[in-house]
Amino acid sequence: MRWIRWIDTLVAVFVVALVVIARMPASVSAVTLPTVNASATCGKVACGSGFNQSNHDFVNGPLANTTVNLNGTNTTVGQCTLCHTPHSALLTTLLWNHHLSNNSQFSWDVNTTMAGTPFTVFQNNWTGSTTKCLSCHDGSVSRQTINWFMGQTPLPGSNTAVCTTSGTPPVTRCVASGSHIGNGGNMADVHPVVMPYPCGRVQNTYGPSASQTGAAFVANEWVSQPPAPIEIYTNPSGNNVNRQTQGACTGTTNGIECGSCHDVHNGIGAVYDMDLLRGNINPAGATGYICQLCHAK
Ligand code: HEC
Ligand code: HEC
Ligand code: HEC
Ligand code: HEC
Repeated sequence: MRWIRWIDTLVAVFVVALVVIARMPASVSAVTLPTVNASATCGKVACGSGFNQSNHDFVNGPLANTTVNLNGTNTTVGQCTLCHTPHSALLTTLLWNHHLSNNSQFSWDVNTTMAGTPFTVFQNNWTGSTTKCLSCHDGSVSRQTINWFMGQTPLPGSNTAVCTTSGTPPVTRCVASGSHIGNGGNMADVHPVVMPYPCGRVQNTYGPSASQTGAAFVANEWVSQPPAPIEIYTNPSGNNVNRQTQGACTGTTNGIECGSCHDVHNGIGAVYDMDLLRGNINPAGATGYICQLCHAK
């Protein structure tokens, strides 16, 4: 009967379409989104449950009781103040209150990635989140060393309770040594940051030296628009850095910072199984492996 043939044809077309879609190079629709590991903790609380009592909550988290020396008296500062302050901030962007790194500049030991993208040499006051993270995580400044609190200027670095000095030459470490990134300004062995991301699978430009994705990048090995909660940044002009809408990076001035892979606030619903990570890393039953949220390998 003719109408059955029509249905057969329709079904056949539908199946062919499904096969074609399935065989298309990996795109956003093919990315498996992260799943929560309910037992994972980020500090004293579950990953992705918000800032309070997380790794970066230095008042109620695992590293509680951070004090700042105000005119000779150790005073516990507010939860947010070790990083942001409403007044007298060091920088307008993010109202940043923590002292910048003592390393004025960060660089890698090679010039370009395999694709030919130049690694960015960046100063400690680059606007992106990377320099904010490194102000503590490169080990050069104690986490209590802030700019301002309640009308009083703290004594910089006067509380060294969480800093230890070791090695030859001696290096003062102010976060646990396992958390060290960029010690001495040396970014060798660290995944690219302050680097362009090939949004739309085309070459992008990003950062203080307008680094451009190398011509040898393989377009279809990139997720065109990395899904939430991955954070892609845009640097349309000068040192202005903004967030892109998650899951929708447009234009060609996009790049990645530490904040692309990590949520410093243990953001609600944005961190899954460890290390304030915007994705999963533990293989046990988890989908949304962090690396494949950007790399379509
Ligand atoms: C005010 C200082 C400070 C700033 C700024 C800061 N961190 Fe941290 N961070 C710490 C300390 C202290 C810890 C606790 C672990 C430790 O002592 O190493 C920590 C913990 C972490 C952890 C968990 C480490 C673990 O072993 O589980 C990650 C991941 C992390 N930070 C990433 C970042 C990123 C990314 C940024 C910027 C977006 C950032 N941090 C900004 C001080 C800071
Ligand atoms: C491409 C994604 C990515 C970027 C970008 C990234 N990280 Fe991570 N980071 C991870 C992953 C994945 C882990 C967990 C695996 C591990 O511990 O190596 C991690 C772990 C960490 C830890 C825990 C201790 C450690 O070394 O394992 C700290 C602290 C940290 N990152 C800080 C940073 C800082 C600071 C930056 C920016 C300079 C940064 N990360 C950029 C993916 C990233
Ligand atoms: C350990 C340092 C640290 C602490 C503590 C911290 N923040 Fe942040 N905050 C950051 C960094 C770094 C960024 C930039 C994040 C990025 O771009 O990845 C940021 C960004 C922000 C932003 C602007 C971007 C956004 O996410 O909307 C706001 C608002 C903010 N923080 C508020 C707070 C508040 C409120 C608290 C206290 C409850 C707090 N932060 C505690 C480091 C911190
Ligand atoms: C937020 C997006 C993003 C995530 C997530 C991500 N990467 Fe990358 N990765 C990049 C970008 C951008 C580059 C630089 C590409 C270029 O232009 O050469 C890069 C480069 C690399 C390179 C090549 C470096 C070189 O010298 O050529 C490797 C290897 C790599 N990433 C591994 C990883 C691994 C492993 C993970 C998971 C832990 C990961 N990436 C997660 C964005 C990401």
